[in-house]
Amino acid sequence: EPPKLVVAKAPAEPEEVDDGKKKVTIFFGTQTGTAEGFAKALAEEAKARYQQAKFKVVDIDDYAADDEEYEEKMKKESVAFFFLATYGDGEPTDNAARFYKWFTEEKDKGDWLKNLQYGVFGLGNRQYEHFNKIAIVVDKIFAEQGGQRLVPVGLGDDDQCIEDDFAAWRELVWPELDKLLLNEDDASVATPYTAAVLEYRVVFHDQVDDSIVDNSSANGHANGNSVYDAQHPCRANVAVKKELHTPASDRSCTHLEFDISGTGLAYETGDHVGVYCENLIETVEEAERLLNLPPQTYFSLHSDKEDGAPLGGSSLSPPFPPCTLRTALTRYADLLNAPKKSALIALAAYASDPNEADRLRHLASPAGKEEYAQYVVAGQRSLLEVMAEFPSAKPPLGVFFAAVAPRLQPRFYSISSSPKIAPSRIHVTCALVYEKMPTGRIHKGVCSTWMKNAVPSEDSLDCSSAPIFVRTSNFRLPADPKVPIIMIGPGTGLAPFRGFLQERLALKESGAELGPAILFFGCRNSKMDFIYQDELDNFVKAGVISELVLAFSREGPTKEYVQHKMAQKASEVWNMISEGGYVYVCGDAKGMARDVHRTLHTIVQEQGSLDSSKAESMVKNLQMSGRYLRDVW
Ligand code: 2AM
Repeated sequence: EPPKLVVAKAPAEPEEVDDGKKKVTIFFGTQTGTAEGFAKALAEEAKARYQQAKFKVVDIDDYAADDEEYEEKMKKESVAFFFLATYGDGEPTDNAARFYKWFTEEKDKGDWLKNLQYGVFGLGNRQYEHFNKIAIVVDKIFAEQGGQRLVPVGLGDDDQCIEDDFAAWRELVWPELDKLLLNEDDASVATPYTAAVLEYRVVFHDQVDDSIVDNSSANGHANGNSVYDAQHPCRANVAVKKELHTPASDRSCTHLEFDISGTGLAYETGDHVGVYCENLIETVEEAERLLNLPPQTYFSLHSDKEDGAPLGGSSLSPPFPPCTLRTALTRYADLLNAPKKSALIALAAYASDPNEADRLRHLASPAGKEEYAQYVVAGQRSLLEVMAEFPSAKPPLGVFFAAVAPRLQPRFYSISSSPKIAPSRIHVTCALVYEKMPTGRIHKGVCSTWMKNAVPSEDSLDCSSAPIFVRTSNFRLPADPKVPIIMIGPGTGLAPFRGFLQERLALKESGAELGPAILFFGCRNSKMDFIYQDELDNFVKAGVISELVLAFSREGPTKEYVQHKMAQKASEVWNMISEGGYVYVCGDAKGMARDVHRTLHTIVQEQGSLDSSKAESMVKNLQMSGRYLRDVW
């Protein structure tokens, strides 16, 4: 019998019929899926509560093709909610970038949004400088342009428990929606919300060859500017792999080169590469054991009912093509992050032991807040670890992939090569994540471990490959190579500067005159983790770097960091800035970039004999004019 292949189809746009029902649009700008999850959760709850209204969840990028359409459509919205994450250096997510640019640039349009009642929930992390900037800005502009704010902007903090922040904000939303959407009779009968567990419909198939439905090796689809993107990655072989630390180091950093020849994938110096990696086989086998299903189980997921109607009004789209459980767990399931509270509720619903079900529900409840913070967050327990401790909870696959295990996300790396030197290769410089957690579990970072274990085509015809795509950045060299540049990049923060230096080398070889370039690099010990040392020496010899300044943090009696070296070179740094120079910082945002920022401020203040507020506005100006750029994480 031929295999019954049911190909999941994209959910059709529902017909826009005016049935007199009030329309509520819920937008999301998401990077890792959290904002999208919240948007959907709000919609699901609202649908159950307000039968007299229509709720639509919209990816803010899919909403409109251009600025005019944004304006046209936004003008017609009457009730809207926005879930907007802030990333990196105060940036919107990729899928909110167009909306954000349009919305923040075109300001003076009067109160054109006076028919709009709205609420904004932000997703951010308080450890970062621009905490929830995107949500705060959008919320403010909506109000300035006539919109009526239904609830205060929610400031979700991923450093604490963002699910709790969302739950608290949502409690403010209901009374407002009650006022808007319920008439008095309804109000008394309004159904109290009970958490519905999201699930896919599962179709099991006879075993077929996994490779024939491997979508990730297919060529990408054209979508305007670039052929490949996060939804349409390009499978690229690993050509080269090298360890960058010396054997004396107790850590590891991998240099990897993806072969992009013949793929049509292109990049520019300073871009990022997104990599879809795979879980380790040991992780996958543990998940198979916990789910108690054979790895060769061949299935597909569907977001519609047998008759094609949406499942519970759900707006979930099928996450991946038909495949074996082994493949699904390897490629698509995030198994090592801490489980969300919604995942615990889903597990509870399928725990056959009532004690386990109670405890899981308690952990996810407001009363269990402290215990969740201790047990899950502080214990840094992974989803698999929690499942192992609640062995009776065996969710079916449709629930596991919809509500328990989030989708495994691509990891982003600053590309460490320049297409001028390596046109058919994308280089990545990746520090291994290998940590002992409070419970004693060794956490192996999914992508860094995959890279460390990758088999390059240099060594074997049966080499490793991964679906990848390029994300453009604004981290670019000045157009004029004579302009001075200051680069600050300790550790793997060196990555994009290796690309910059390759580009400068190529420019120099083609006869261009180069301006001064100073590089501040830091690591622990010159004999252990001084990555690309030979290359940096050669860049100095070739005149591509005019000064290489090194900070070794664990060699001498005191810690030497890049910002200490900057302070020592204050007058030089100041002179370069005064001559129109650019400042680039790459690396850890929470510690290093923040300290470097303070040091830069001090240098400007002292060297320029300015008071603190003048110094601040000068640094702001550098930032606004694109002469102080940060690629931080
Ligand atoms: P440490 O690990 O010895 O503290 C690359 O990771 C280098 O950056 C290491 O030498 C590391 O030092 C250093 N580093 C850690 N925190 C930093 C900070 N806040 N500012 C600058 N460098 C830092």
